[in-house]
Amino acid sequence: MNEWLRKKKVHDFFQQKGSVQLERTLSGFDLILLGVGAIVGTGIFILPGTVAAVHAGPAIVFSFIIAAIVCAFAGLCYSEFASAVPVTGSAYSYSYVIFGEVFAWLVGWVLILEYGLAVASVATGWSSYLMSLLEGFQLHIPTALSGPFNPAEGTYINLPAIAIIMAVAFLLTLGVRESTRINTIMVFIKVGVIVLFLVVGIFYVKPDNWQPFMPYGVSGVLSGAALVFFAFLGFDSVSNAAEEVKNPKRNLPIGIIGSLFICTLLYVSVSLVLTGIAPYTQLNVSDPVSFVIALVGQDWISGLIALGAVVGMMTVILVMSYGGSRLLYALSRDGLLPKSMSSIHPKYKTPIKNTLIFAVAVSLCAGFVPLAKLAELVNMGTLIAFSIVSIGVIFLRNNKSIQPGGFKVPFYPVLPIVSFLLCVFLMSQLAYYTWIACVIWLLFGLAIYIIYGRKHSIMND
Ligand code: ALA
Repeated sequence: MNEWLRKKKVHDFFQQKGSVQLERTLSGFDLILLGVGAIVGTGIFILPGTVAAVHAGPAIVFSFIIAAIVCAFAGLCYSEFASAVPVTGSAYSYSYVIFGEVFAWLVGWVLILEYGLAVASVATGWSSYLMSLLEGFQLHIPTALSGPFNPAEGTYINLPAIAIIMAVAFLLTLGVRESTRINTIMVFIKVGVIVLFLVVGIFYVKPDNWQPFMPYGVSGVLSGAALVFFAFLGFDSVSNAAEEVKNPKRNLPIGIIGSLFICTLLYVSVSLVLTGIAPYTQLNVSDPVSFVIALVGQDWISGLIALGAVVGMMTVILVMSYGGSRLLYALSRDGLLPKSMSSIHPKYKTPIKNTLIFAVAVSLCAGFVPLAKLAELVNMGTLIAFSIVSIGVIFLRNNKSIQPGGFKVPFYPVLPIVSFLLCVFLMSQLAYYTWIACVIWLLFGLAIYIIYGRKHSIMND
């Protein structure tokens, strides 16, 4: 049982074979762009429509604000960890230092769920926007090949979603990296398209459509918040850059909170304009942003928005696939998964095997499971990681082996505790089948640890 709770020291990460000291080049502004690049995707192009229609009505703006507050609190806790334990691996590595091996493994295991299902659901959203774009050119993908398995609706497999995941995996195996420059271009395209939507859409807003503002009551707003939480995922990727940031104490919080602030502003504005143009009851479609613009007769702008959405979502798929495959790599390098999964291709210098395993597993989900179910499970996995990081700050402060200094969460210990409680509260708003699926996933993970990881961990050496 002792081995279950063995902990890593911060310097173990740097002394590990193959670790290199990275150069500190990123500024606060770079981090904000990195954050917005990883965050804005399906969340803004799809969820404001479906969640407004079914859960919150125009009051979805409150859902976004609540989700943003939860993320901001968790983001501050991430900042403290990132500056005290400045290694990649995010919540997985933090838990290894603070709580011990079995917790680290389980956090890593739910993060695989987060990254995997995030890629699957963004690819599903990408596929909807691709189809609406192709329709503008009178091109149609057969219905049977354009949606998840649902014979009643005549759809059997989402082929475009599978294709984009495999294409991105192929790029990743060739060693394609999110360079700051490409990321910056993509961010400007995405944000540009959103601003275009706002500028054009505002002229078609009819305030009557905002009545009733809160048709499903407070409970609808809260369950909406648990769902739109998905739209903020990705900001934790900023903490992964901890080893490459100039003056991390100051810049990490700027990057995390700054990107959350910009995204909240965009999300709230898009939701207001969207629900102002068309009654919320009409918004339960898979491409609501270009849908409402087409509704008011601005067809070419609608096409432009679909094009921007298609390009923008690809970066989220790329960043999350990269994160997922590198997480598998870290778990395997630490001995918790078979060593063959951290083998590096001699020519391309990338973990080809695990990138492909990840892509195949994820594309099966994207090809056959509907988006809403996927998004809920992603949120659960992420909220578990957030709650562990939040409560972990209390243990971090009391850990004498970690050097003090760096960024500190304000209003300690109230803020980490409130952050933890808010995450647990949002989890409680998710559907019961999401809980069941998550518990099964965790038990499955525990079994793998008992049978495999415990015996093969490099901590045994
Ligand atoms: N935040 C990411 C998105 O909305 C996952 O696509």
